[in-house]
Amino acid sequence: MLKTHSCGELRLENVGETVTLAGWVNRRRDMGGVVFIDLRDRDGKTQVVVNAGRTAEGFALAEQIRSEYVIQVTGEVSQRPSGQENENIATGDIEVLADEIVVLNPAKNPPFLIDRDEVVDESLRLKYRYLDLRRERLQRNLSIRHKAIKFIRDFLDKRGFLEVETPILFKSTPEGARDYLVPSRVHPGQFYALPQSPQQLKQLLMVAGYERYFQIARCFRDEDLRADRQPEFTQLDMEMSFVERDDILNLIEELMVGMVKHASLVPLAYEEFPRLSYGDVVNRYGTDRPDLRFGLELVDISDIVGSSSFRVFAENVAAGNPVKAICVPGCGDYSRKQLTELEDIAKDAGAKGLAWLAIHPETEEVRGPIAKFFTVEQLIALTEKLEAGPGDLLLISSDTKSVVHEVLHTLRTEMANRLGLTNTNTLAFAWVIDFPLFEEGMEDGHYAPSHHMFTAPKRAHIPLLDSDPGKVLSEQYDLVCNGFEVAGGSIRIHERPLQRKIMELIGFSWEEAEDQFGHMLEAFEYGAPPHGGIAPGVDRLVALMAGEPNIREVMAFPKTAQATDLMASAPSPVVQRQLDELHIALAIKEKEKKA
Ligand code: AMO
Ligand code: AMP
Repeated sequence: MLKTHSCGELRLENVGETVTLAGWVNRRRDMGGVVFIDLRDRDGKTQVVVNAGRTAEGFALAEQIRSEYVIQVTGEVSQRPSGQENENIATGDIEVLADEIVVLNPAKNPPFLIDRDEVVDESLRLKYRYLDLRRERLQRNLSIRHKAIKFIRDFLDKRGFLEVETPILFKSTPEGARDYLVPSRVHPGQFYALPQSPQQLKQLLMVAGYERYFQIARCFRDEDLRADRQPEFTQLDMEMSFVERDDILNLIEELMVGMVKHASLVPLAYEEFPRLSYGDVVNRYGTDRPDLRFGLELVDISDIVGSSSFRVFAENVAAGNPVKAICVPGCGDYSRKQLTELEDIAKDAGAKGLAWLAIHPETEEVRGPIAKFFTVEQLIALTEKLEAGPGDLLLISSDTKSVVHEVLHTLRTEMANRLGLTNTNTLAFAWVIDFPLFEEGMEDGHYAPSHHMFTAPKRAHIPLLDSDPGKVLSEQYDLVCNGFEVAGGSIRIHERPLQRKIMELIGFSWEEAEDQFGHMLEAFEYGAPPHGGIAPGVDRLVALMAGEPNIREVMAFPKTAQATDLMASAPSPVVQRQLDELHIALAIKEKEKKA
């Protein structure tokens, strides 16, 4: 080794020892006759003192050294003079008096400061990711990630799970996104698909009798990216045989609580995760991934305002649509301008308008352009149902159910942010259960699975598949935390006839089903055990545990929102020979070509 100790290791008990350290020059201060160097490696920082009297040669070098040079220092550990200790670093009681300095590699001036937590343009950070990764924030995040994954592996190993790797070059495993395709050289015109998840493979491992499987699995999805979505990301992919829903929920809950306690900077709000039905959650929060750190719940006021003289509400209620509201405490003094701003947010979320009522903090008079359409009794009933008091603001939406939910979910989140209700120092987990098997409404006369096509309907609902498929509830469950979906899973179908039936409802012809999923259907005929599983999203969990708003902050080499790697410039064109080998001819219009 080129070093005897790390830069975070030396303490008072090492005083007098001769040590060799190696690392990066974090900062250098020239005091005339003495140069102080903060030497940094992943483990910490140590102050090196280079005194011309002790090493003339080393001093001459130290005068030329710049930030981020890689150097090796041999010297004696010494107690810092009284009053010179630095409480902010673990090695703050000592310093190393240099006897010899070797420059292992000089460095160009970095495009941003490594040792300061200043805001740097993200594209610059991504282009120089290897420098960004030197900074404390990412080192901390990647170490949280490591700790979490290590905890997961140990936890599952103790419970008899086997980690099995599955192929990356595979066949389309649809999870609702577009596939990334890889052309085959050997089979002209044919393609592998990168797995959107190892879903089929883990189910086949259950057919194979493995009973308890997991994998820290890379998944690939060509979809529109957001703060919590990357084209390739990591799942803790799991599957178990002979289990029921609650076996999986209980196990994952224990795993999550343990992992957060072991690895997270952000603590749990509570240790017993509530289990909420999909229908209930959507009604109360307008979304199936509710943020439970705050209230501001949606309240249905159709029964009260349906009989009012405000036509929009009366007509909507008569047509079977809801009128819902949230009560925002303390915002009753919002100005016209502020209310117009909220209306614009509502319109961006799909609303035609946003109605509001404000309760005067003293007179308790109800103000708002639609107030005149309500009787005193109706206004009293409204404030009672919404538990509204003096100074509160009621935001009211009426449209189809899905628009109302989207609008009020958006406003609920917006108002919570404005009121500072989204405590960033807590993790509020919850299970969402009893999902519908299919998404609402049909497309081209077919249903779309609300999770994926391998999810089992509730046993008691199987007869409904013939009469009213839209009403069928499934064995799907999601884990949510602070408004993010952090895991999804289900008890699976394990019988061929039922799987075929679901494929039909989704719109697969007999040929398509056999062609794409024949291997699954056939496997189910060779003794497939009842099974189920789940896949927590590792990136999202680590981001939450690190208190980061974006999963890019917890990935070593993430891609941009345009799915590019700015450091290596990927994707990139390839040479004609490679295309020829793959039997590919490009059909790109000149203007679409990347400059
Ligand atoms: P699902 O599609 O719900 O389920 O994915 C599981 C979890 O993976 C995370 N996730 C993502 N994270 C980052 N970027 C993305 N683009 C992305 N997409 C999903 C989420 C999500 O909850 N095979 C099933 C699991 C199962 O049924 O066992 C599946 O993939 O946290
Ligand atoms: P109008 O009668 O169109 O001027 O609307 C009166 C108020 O009701 C305005 O504040 C509108 O934004 C609001 N409004 C109109 N349509 C809706 C709707 N579908 N849901 C909620 N508020 C609405």
